[in-house]
Amino acid sequence: MSQQQILNFFSDPDPREEIDELRRELNRLNHAYYVDNRSLVSDQEFDQMMHRLQTLEAAHPECFDPDSPTQRVGSDLSGDFRTVEHSNPMLSLANTYNRREVGDFYRRVQDGLHGQPFRICCEMKYDGLSISLIYDHGRLTRAVTRGDGVRGDDVTRNIRTIRSIPLVLPPGGSWPPHFEIRGEVLMPWESFNRLNSEREAAGEPLLANPRNAASGTLKSKDPRVAASRGLDARLYYLIGEGIPGESHYDNLMAAREWGFKIGGEMQLADSLEEIYEYIDRWDAGRASLPVATDGIVLKVNSLVQQRSLGLTAKSPRWAIAYKFQAEEQETVLREVTFQVGRTGAVTPVANMDPVPLSGTTVRRATLNNADFIREMDLHLGDTVRVIKGGEIIPKIIGVRTDLRGPHTGAPVTFITRCPECGTPLVRFEGEAATYCPNSALCPPQIKGRIEHFISRKAMNIDSLGPETVDDLWQRGLIHDVADLYLLRADQLSGEDGERMKSAQKLIRGIGQSREVPFERVLFALGIRFVGETAAKSLARAFRNIDALMAATADELCRVDGIGGVIAGSVVSWMADAHNRQLVERLRRAGLRFELSGEQLEAQSSLLAGQSIVISGVFARHSRDEYKALIEQHGGKNVGSLSKNTAFLLAGENMGPAKLEKAGKLGLRIVGEDEFLAMIGEE
Ligand code: IVH
Repeated sequence: MSQQQILNFFSDPDPREEIDELRRELNRLNHAYYVDNRSLVSDQEFDQMMHRLQTLEAAHPECFDPDSPTQRVGSDLSGDFRTVEHSNPMLSLANTYNRREVGDFYRRVQDGLHGQPFRICCEMKYDGLSISLIYDHGRLTRAVTRGDGVRGDDVTRNIRTIRSIPLVLPPGGSWPPHFEIRGEVLMPWESFNRLNSEREAAGEPLLANPRNAASGTLKSKDPRVAASRGLDARLYYLIGEGIPGESHYDNLMAAREWGFKIGGEMQLADSLEEIYEYIDRWDAGRASLPVATDGIVLKVNSLVQQRSLGLTAKSPRWAIAYKFQAEEQETVLREVTFQVGRTGAVTPVANMDPVPLSGTTVRRATLNNADFIREMDLHLGDTVRVIKGGEIIPKIIGVRTDLRGPHTGAPVTFITRCPECGTPLVRFEGEAATYCPNSALCPPQIKGRIEHFISRKAMNIDSLGPETVDDLWQRGLIHDVADLYLLRADQLSGEDGERMKSAQKLIRGIGQSREVPFERVLFALGIRFVGETAAKSLARAFRNIDALMAATADELCRVDGIGGVIAGSVVSWMADAHNRQLVERLRRAGLRFELSGEQLEAQSSLLAGQSIVISGVFARHSRDEYKALIEQHGGKNVGSLSKNTAFLLAGENMGPAKLEKAGKLGLRIVGEDEFLAMIGEE
């Protein structure tokens, strides 16, 4: 017996009764406070009881119990986390961002259950860290993070500090001797905001969101940190032999009786309509919840039906997560890379920690140009605000300068030399972009021009893809687009001719491109700012390349839709000796550098100056063909209806909204046959 124990023996011969009594009472108070949100005693009384228990336990180490409420305040012990295998693998859920797919899920369940009636349990999707808790004989024995789904970190000591997670279950409950319960560890908004105010006052960087804060806290080596951070939890899945209910909902209700904190928003639905109602209610209502949520989880309620639906490799077939669309997200900027396009323009690209945004995972965003980087005052390691906007490429719209700290890296600067060929970069007066001027030799510019040349809307050489272009370029077989027309099948068919068939197909594809009309050849040349429409207007107005080459900027500007920027770019392109040579070589290769006789004949001004909207499906020509016909006759195909629209060219199955709008604007609706008659093409 140690000296301390001898002393205890005399001063307090049987502390056990008092210790047990205090533990029971503190557990009861904790449960009322952290699970039921009720305070049964004052903070002071609570602290006094806790203090008394701590004193008794310190004096009687033989009474140590890892489940004692004193253990929830954390000890100063520390150690690395052990990685342990999950008893049941932690699968994730299939995700969806749209209601249609919720309907698809519902119908898949219907089909899978061969028309049996079923109910769906609707729950909130809590945005924290998933955790697996193991209870043996009513005591929490292990808490493991999700990890890779098969193995996770043993964070039991930190989890013990979360007051809403019971360490011991009430005796006599319907709980089975061994079971697992899963849920989410969360940092409530209140704790999160408090923590950030403390950090702000201490001049420390702020935490970006409650999920990161909860994760950092749970992974802290010192359980006192976890104890002080006010973590909470919601449990949502009970697994094990002998669990009491036959349905998910009943099981969670039983778990609530045993002291677990179950989301109060849970509700059963008997139809798809009820599910949609639930989604609508909580998409709006979640703003007033005390914890962060990022969607709704739908689960087939009956366990028998869950088993009969089974699992796929990654997720159960009986559940799905509907995620609320995040229009804006925050993530961390890790690196800025620079891309050189076919025109030599250098675009800075932000590489960020992956983040879900409006239905996809976003890793990269454009940083536009040097001014943008400077105005944003971007630093590596910054937390940035990202949106998807109307375009597909995400944009950075702001920086959380309040989150800067020692982890923040250097300011982002624009490079001064081309990352691909080392040439010093230039910026033209009045332009935002920075360029690599080495257009003749800079590899991505050459390859980019070739890729643009062969693309569908240009020469449409679809037998040739970017990989083949790269390969031909690497092998020194092509240096520019004119070289394509010098290729021979035997150069492409492999060492012993095993790829002769595909080589011949490629050569045939290149050959067929000789038929491509002048306007598309002009577009294919890749003159900066000369898009499809400008190329068309220029080809129509000048009719051949020689006239276009001889045109002055003023003459170019007289063409409808051509302004100073395009005109300037055309003039300087045409003046370049390299480019003139290229045109000559392409002309010799047989490409069309003038409008065909047919095109000249077909041209009219029947629709001159008219803006025409095309809608619906057509029987006699494709939409693209109608577009070409409109342009041939001097008209313009526009996308949306307005009072300036001359008429609506309407096919079958036109959308009702468009019809209604056309009606409201009092627009003329022209059918396919009528239109063809108008242009004399019956
Ligand atoms: S059920 C087999 N219910 O969302 C079903 N998960 O990929 C297991 N989550 O990893 C999950 N709230 O971390 C379920 N009410 C809820 C949830 C929920 C949040 C998390 C969980 C899981 C992820 C889905």
